[in-house]
Amino acid sequence: MNLTHKKILLGIAGGIAAYKACELVRRLRDAGADIRVVMTENATRFVTPLTLQALSGNPVRVSLWDEEHEAAMGHIELARWADAILIAPASADMMARLAAGMADDLLSTLCLASEAPLLLAPAMNRVMWAHPATRANAQILLSRGIQLFGPGSGAQACGELGEGRMLEPLELVQRLAVAISPPSNPIGDAALFGKRVVITAGATREAIDPVRFISNRSSGRMGYAVAEAARDAGAEVVLISGVTSLPAPQDVTRIEVETALHMREAVMQAMPCDIFIGTAAVADYRPTETALQKIKKNADTLTLELVKNPDILSEVAALALRPFTVGFAAETEHLLDHARAKLQRKKLDMIAANLVSEGRAFDQADNALTILWGDSQIELPQADKRLLAQQLIQIIAQRVTQRA
Ligand code: CTP
Repeated sequence: MNLTHKKILLGIAGGIAAYKACELVRRLRDAGADIRVVMTENATRFVTPLTLQALSGNPVRVSLWDEEHEAAMGHIELARWADAILIAPASADMMARLAAGMADDLLSTLCLASEAPLLLAPAMNRVMWAHPATRANAQILLSRGIQLFGPGSGAQACGELGEGRMLEPLELVQRLAVAISPPSNPIGDAALFGKRVVITAGATREAIDPVRFISNRSSGRMGYAVAEAARDAGAEVVLISGVTSLPAPQDVTRIEVETALHMREAVMQAMPCDIFIGTAAVADYRPTETALQKIKKNADTLTLELVKNPDILSEVAALALRPFTVGFAAETEHLLDHARAKLQRKKLDMIAANLVSEGRAFDQADNALTILWGDSQIELPQADKRLLAQQLIQIIAQRVTQRA
């Protein structure tokens, strides 16, 4: 666990778990981190800024309107300074304000003004944690790529027993180190240098009429992370993207498509390539006919006839000038059996399998993957999708090099 020279901005929100932040500061320093503490007004009711100043070795900031501190290191400078922002404890109120994008005190303003990864250690009474408002806020934060560490369950300061306890300082430091460090076996800068990589990502939309369509829950995050990892490994990357709300990654050629047929056309135009990675959730079927005008609800029942879409991945794998072809398998059960069957049926070089179900994988920042090829398999445990994408690219690069 190494955070040497990592600049960590530790935010402390108002909650009884704030007392644990003192030990957290010690642990972060033990791991080599350079720490600046920012507290909310309410946090100062539980633990004093003086204590945290002594422990962190740096002045503690509370107010946005502190002229002396603003003159030394202004809040925008502080936002830029941080390699990561960890808020521990993150109260229900703090989560709500972050989810709403508010900037009504120093800590929330810093979160909005910083591009550094934001990590939260929620801590609150179990009923507050289970409240639909907090659950919804947690979903919003997760969907923006913000990581939540915990909460754990057990005895609470309020005397109740349940989920809502802040994770222990040591565990938080470990989780932080994993979240912000490059993978243990980093991709060589040039592992894919000179390679052309084509990646599909996101969901396709199949129009029923001018206002309605069939689609799925894919956010495109995994595919975008794979595109960035391939770019970082030195590849020339073409990202053929279905509908997502994600911005185009820098130095990647993004081609936006809507339907499976558009996606297939764009993929075939992007051929030949060295590596093809199909992360898109392509609609298996499309309406046989798309109504030219909005369908009116005149009839009591409505039957839609669907026709199968071409399987883009299989078509790429069947090309005469065939790239190293990698598929994804999203399954709700019998993960490995289904994935291995798909690997063989679609004649792929490799497949990345993951379990999907309500609240899992789709539209989440985290995921877990099993990578299968030939008779081999590697488990990539639950982690941020960016980290998983780097590990996947590293495995692909090794296989491609061995085959060459
Ligand atoms: N894929 C594709 N074109 C399609 C359907 C899927 O390129 N029309 C790709 C996906 O990008 C992914 C893999 O194939 O890499 C996933 O296949 P999937 O559709 O989940 O599996 P199927 O073989 O259709 O099996 P099933 O629907 O029964 O799970």
